[in-house]
Order: sequence, then structure tokens, then C-alpha cells
Amino acid sequence: MTISIRDMYCNYSTTPLALKNGKPKFLWIIDSDKKRGKQTAFQLLVSSFPDLMKENKGDMWDTQKVESSENYCYYEGKELESFKRYYWKVRVWDEEGGMSDWSSTSCFETGPLEKKDWKAQWIAKKDLKTFKSSGDYDTESYKQYYASFFRKPFELRNGIKKARAYISGLGFYELYLNGKKIGNNVLDPGQTEYSKEALYSVYDITNYLSLKNCIGVILGNGRYIERYGYSKPRLVLQILIEYEDGNKEFIFSDNSWKSSHGPIQENGIYYGEKYDARLEMPNWNIYHFDDTNWEETEIVSGPDLRYQSMPPIRVTSALKPQKMYSIKPGVYIYDFGQNFTGWVKIAVKGPRGTEIKIRHSELINKDGTLNTATIRKAEATDTYVLKGEGLETYEPRFTYHGFRYIEVSGFPTVPTIESVEGCFVHTDVEKIGDFYCSNELINKVHNNILWGQLSNLHSIPTDCPQRDERFGWMGDAQLSAEEAIYNFDMNLFYENYLQEIKLSQKEDGSIPDVVPAYIKIYPADPAWGSAYITLAWYLYEYYKNEQVLRNHFDSMKKYVEFLKDNSENNLIKKLGKFGDWCPPGAISPKKTPVEVTSSWYYYNDVYLFSRICEVLGEEDEAKYYLELSEKIKNSFNGGFLKEYGYETRMFGPVDRLISQTSQILPLYYEMVPKDKKEFILERLIDNIVEHQDSHVDTGIVGTRYLFDVLSENGYADLAFKIITQESYPGWGYMIKEGATTVWERWEKLEAGGMNSQNHIMLGSVDTWFYKYLVGLSLTKPGWEEVKIKPHLVSDVSFASGKVKTVKGEFLVSWEKAETTFKLSIAIPFGCEANIFIPRLGEEYVLNESGVLLVDSSKKQDNLPESKIKFEGIEEDSIIVNVGSGQYYFELKSK
Ligand code: BGC
Repeated sequence: MTISIRDMYCNYSTTPLALKNGKPKFLWIIDSDKKRGKQTAFQLLVSSFPDLMKENKGDMWDTQKVESSENYCYYEGKELESFKRYYWKVRVWDEEGGMSDWSSTSCFETGPLEKKDWKAQWIAKKDLKTFKSSGDYDTESYKQYYASFFRKPFELRNGIKKARAYISGLGFYELYLNGKKIGNNVLDPGQTEYSKEALYSVYDITNYLSLKNCIGVILGNGRYIERYGYSKPRLVLQILIEYEDGNKEFIFSDNSWKSSHGPIQENGIYYGEKYDARLEMPNWNIYHFDDTNWEETEIVSGPDLRYQSMPPIRVTSALKPQKMYSIKPGVYIYDFGQNFTGWVKIAVKGPRGTEIKIRHSELINKDGTLNTATIRKAEATDTYVLKGEGLETYEPRFTYHGFRYIEVSGFPTVPTIESVEGCFVHTDVEKIGDFYCSNELINKVHNNILWGQLSNLHSIPTDCPQRDERFGWMGDAQLSAEEAIYNFDMNLFYENYLQEIKLSQKEDGSIPDVVPAYIKIYPADPAWGSAYITLAWYLYEYYKNEQVLRNHFDSMKKYVEFLKDNSENNLIKKLGKFGDWCPPGAISPKKTPVEVTSSWYYYNDVYLFSRICEVLGEEDEAKYYLELSEKIKNSFNGGFLKEYGYETRMFGPVDRLISQTSQILPLYYEMVPKDKKEFILERLIDNIVEHQDSHVDTGIVGTRYLFDVLSENGYADLAFKIITQESYPGWGYMIKEGATTVWERWEKLEAGGMNSQNHIMLGSVDTWFYKYLVGLSLTKPGWEEVKIKPHLVSDVSFASGKVKTVKGEFLVSWEKAETTFKLSIAIPFGCEANIFIPRLGEEYVLNESGVLLVDSSKKQDNLPESKIKFEGIEEDSIIVNVGSGQYYFELKSK
């Protein structure tokens, strides 16, 4: 049995081209067919030359053999230099003294490690044409600019070894070298609080260079606009060229660059984009172009720069329209059959000057025309003016839309179904989870959530992708985070977002509802502000990202203290405003008082923060905040626990209906006094079953925790029933009514206002599919130990799930028949699983890979030969403990 290193990561990326500040983290995934295999030691080498790796030498760092079961470590070697490539490899030992071979050699690069390494200047076009967009979220309209084009010719000598471009351009940029677009990032850089920081990306441009070169950059508005307090678009670019002879050369953005307007005119996130192909400037981004008519650029100020370590936004797939029809001569509607985020690409031939308009919507009216009510004031219109030269193709660059339908008008001929193609555009996070089960409705709900989740990843977690918002509303972000984490690799994405939260923090510790704070709503509703603590905690739990806890410790503490300063008798009575947002039939919470949600989040934040302190070894603080959380819990019960259950807003003397959410929240954290737990649970179940006919009466907050509470307390069947209801309100209802993503509201509403068809906040239910239906959840941070407990619910005969983690891939797949239950699992090296196998009755036999494990008719002894430990019987499950490896359990009831 061998062990080997399969995947290697530096700062959670494969081969990063720049580092964030601080010590890089090295992480390796071990591959082995060993059962119960565990790493006991590792050795890691870092060197500045690849040849040293061949000799197994680390001139920068040689850890020697370190006793450790962790499959990661933080760099402690010699000081790293800016703009350098380093090489690393690792080997590991297991508990039997077996040693892996050295891993393959991986590498990472440092970019500009310090501010002084940025020699380039921020530049902008001097005079810019302006326009206004009415989509700017409020009544006032602010100006934005036509896109600006920049060029800089330069010469190099022979013998280039490597070249890198470090660039940021606000709001959005596109980079070209010698006429070719560099990289496949779109809508780059990610959105930030631009007055403080902008993100830069790094590209390997070695193969794009020759002796005579030209850089071309286009800038669009993005969020860098007057409405949010910014002025005209600007860029900073630094190219580093390293020659074979060891010499280095830099090319910087400065006022020797020239600029111009071009074919991209109006452009805005809400507005759309106008492209006049007659204004194209062929070869504007190659060396020999005559730029005498171009203007000088000016040097402007710009923010500090931070490496964009999260994956960029990309076009990830193409969608073909499902159908197309005409609503009047010359006006065509295309239906993509799927609500998604991005834009369309058109292919057209026609006379010069022909103007084509593409409007976007989520819905259509009964008469087949676009219903743009749900996108509110966002113009969401792309315009293309033909140059009249053969087949022309166009897709916008500096806007994006959330839509299912488009209306195309002005086409020179009758367009065909092939004339347009949808481009799905979102932050390109890796899909690491996979879920499927025998119930088609559940699969459809899952699928809708995936579309909705990706649509709402646009460098920040957005509320929605279509209307005049698309902001980082933090409530939506934190409520959907666990779902996102089961499906996608979210670590670097949320790490970036946490930095934005930190930047948005005020002196008094408060943070806003929307981050980046383009609209400044301070202080956040505690359910929204909780994103700070909750996301940081998830990054530790799911990715063992301790660095993030350390980096945010002071600011998180300031936030928790802010909550404390705003509490009265350990409850929060005044910060709440949204609370259990969007319950059935309303936007604002109905039955659930905001004081309940605010105070519960106060508990959540203080309790999680005490655990964060514990992880960081801050013992005094851990104790202090744990005690504070106890006080909050007591006050919560003292203040909100009534005779009828937890505090509910009653509408008149005969109203006895309790709030589901008010009961769910304290149950989730086991806050309910022991002697009252059964009562509260009964009240909740009674409310759901008897009063709501097994439907939710929860807003986004209660919904997030409902299914954990039900399943942890023996009501998984009810959870399943609620999720698969096809009647209002529920996910099945949305699907029956044609939803292809998840609605903002439980109601089918198609007018303006708050009726987005693609919000992710109610997508939190997806976690239930992995955690309870498949039955995979972690019980120790970083997936070191998991619980596998399939919840058998009626009508589901099989379910399977896969999750790729920082330890490797977990697989759980089960199948149930009348008298048999089969469970196959795979546990990565170094991990343990406590498995709860349903026993389907009193008499049974359990085998693993054909070998008898447990026979109910015999007294159970531990199996001496087996690596599987029998832990006992609990209620309806046989509990066994396994380590790494693949296992095939088969239970037969007699
Ligand atoms: C957003 C929500 C957000 C809310 C705050 C809305 O306009 O779309 O999802 O959380 O405002 O209550």
C-alpha cells in the first residue's frame, strides 16, 4: 500500500503568480488506498532554483522531518523577494513509518510584496464623454463615461525568459498585447471599496511578446462611478521582463501613454453597453498603429493594490436559446429556458449603420412581450451598430445582465435561433460538490440553486443579478454561505469578501448591510452584520483557514464589542430592521419580532467569536465571550420565552399562531432550557403540520436553520415534505410555476418592487441535501472527522454526494430497498468518519465488502482483524467508526 502526494496548493491556489501579504500556506492532498491511514510527519522544501529541487535541496526553507498530522504548514523560511518564482515539494510519513516519494515540484511567485515595488502610476484619459443611467438605484442620476482606450508601444531585445503583467483598471479593464486579449478574465478586477483598495491581477505574458510591442487597455465604468463617490476610470499596469542573461526590465503606466475613445460608448452595470462598430480603430493595440490623433493621458491618484487571489469572473458556458418568436415585425424574443447571469453574443451580417438592440428580462408578459418589471430601473440594454463588413460578432464587455429572455430588434434580416448565444458569466469558483438523489423534484431544486448561486457570485456575493441592485447584501451572503461551501470552493472568494467587510468597518466597530458599501447603510441589521463572524468561522471550519481568523481578529472583536455597546440587558433591541426578511406574504417580518432575530445573532456572533478566540489561543477572551454568550442566552430566554413559546407578534386577541422562526433559532443552538425543549419543539411541529399544512412560514433567517433543527430532532421526513411541497409556499411551488432559479419571495410575483426571480437567500436549503439526505457533515474543523448519517425519508430510494475538501474527496452514496440498505463511502487519507447505518428493524446483518460486521442475533464483539470499529447501537442506527479508505456496507434486515 502506497502513499503519494496528489494535489499541492500554495495559499489555496495551485501555482499563484503573486502572494497576499503574510506567510504563504502550503497544503497537500495525500492519495492512498490505505485503510485508516494517517500522516505522522512531513518534510517540505522551498528553493529559489528548480535544479535544487532535483537534488532535494531547499535553499529557502527545509523543514526537516516535522512530526505533524496536519497536511499543511505556513512558510517559515528565508525572507522572500518580490517578483520571484520559488519551487516547493513535500513528502510525508504515515503511522506505520511508510514514506511517500517526494511530490512533484510545484511553484509559486511573489508579485510586488511592498508598496514601493509598485513603480507604475495610475493614469486616466483627460477628457471623457459622459452619459447618464437611470438605473442607479435611486432617483438621482449620476454621470458615467464612455469607455477609454489606452496604448503604449515599446521595444524589447532578444532573449526574454519570462514576462508578467500586473494590472488593475477601475471599474473594469480589458488588457491586450500586440492585438491579443490577455487572459480570460472578464469584468476584472473584482469589486472593492475603491477609495481604500483595488485588486490587481497577474498574467504570464511571456509568449505574447516580440521585439516591437504594444500594450492596449480598455476601461469601462463598472462600479467606479460618481454615484458611489468615485470619478473617472483609471488604470495601473506594470510589466516585468526577465531576460535569459538575468537582467530585468519594467514597463510602467505613466503619462507617456496615449488614450482615445473608441467603439465602446455608454457602458454600465445596470445600463448595458453600446458598441458602434463604425468607430472601431483597426490595430489600435499593435505597435505600428498611427496614434497621432490620440490624446495624452494624465496621472491621477489611485488606491492601494491587493492581489486578487480569488478566481476571476469568466464566461463559463454557452447557452443555446430554446425557442424564438416574433412579437411584431422586426422584434424577436428568445427564450433561453434558464434564468442566468451574463450576456448574449450575436452574429450578424448587414448594412453599415444598422442598429441592433438587445433588451433583457427575467419574465415575459402574457402577450409574449418582455416583462422588465423585476429588473426595475436597470436599462439592461445592449446596442450594436454594424460596420457593414461581412459577418460581425459582438458581445459586451463592461456590463452584465440577469435574464432568461431577450428581445432583439433592429436586426437587418430575420435572425435565426443560431444568431444569438447566451454566455454564463460569474466568478469561476471550482465546483467541488456533487449531489443527486432518486427524487426528481429535489434534484431540480438543487439544480435551480446551483444556477442561482453562481449567478450571484460576481467577485462579491450579490443579492440578485438583474435589477438596479446586485449589491453585496451581507444577510443574503451569510445565509447562503454553507450551501455555497458544499457546492463550490469558496475559500478565496469569502476571504476576499472578509477583507472588504474589514475595510468597510467604522471607528465605532459598526459595519454596513451592504459590502462594499457603495450604498452606505450603517449599522447593519445584526442578521446582516453577522456575515463577518459567520463567514470567518466557516472558513476555519471548512478550510482550516486560521490565517483569516488571525487577520480579522481585532476587527471582529471590534464588531462584537459594537454589538455589546448596543445591547440592553444582553439583548439587541434597536439595530434590527430587516430581521426574518421575506416571510410568506410580506417583505418585512410578520410574526417574528426583529428583536428576536437581532438578539439571536448577537448570541451567534459572541458564541462563535469565543470559539475563534479559543482556536487562536486567546484563552482569556475565549472565556470572557463564552460567558457573555451564556448571559445572552439567559436573557434571551428570560426576555422572549413566553408561555406559548418564543416571542411572537400576535395580531389581535384571537391570534394564537406562533412564529416558526422564533422557535427555530433557539432550538438550533440548543439555547432552550432543557425542561422546555420538548414543548418548544412540539409547538414548532404543531405549527408547521397543523397550521401551515407542512409548509414554511419562515423568512430567509428561519428558513436557513429550519431543516437542521427538524433533522437533528427526528423530523427529517417533515423536512423532506416541506421541501417537496408543490403548493405555496415552497421550492416545489416555485418550480411548478416555472422557476429555473430561486425567487426572492415565496409568492409568484411578476410586478416591480422586490420580486427578483433569482435571489440566493432561500437557496440555503441545499445544505440539507448534503448534510442530512446524503448525510455528510463535518464534526472537526478541516474535515478531519465527519459524521455520515443518511436520513432515510419516504420516497427517496437513493442519494449520493461528493465533496472535495482540504483533505481530499469524500464520497457517500446509499441505496435503500425494502429489506436492504447499501452504503458506499470513501474517506480521504488522515480523516475519520463516524457512520450511522440505519438498521431497518430489530433483526439484521451488516456486512462490509462481503465480510460480516454485525449480526443482531449475536453479541457484538469488536472485530479484531477489521479496521472498522463497532461503536454501538443508537436508536435506529448502527454506529461504526472508520478511517481513510473505501467501504461498502450492506445491511439486510431479517
Ligand atoms: C435585497 C435583499 C437584501 C435586502 C435588505 C433587498 O433589496 O435584494 O436581498 O438583503 O434588500 O433587506
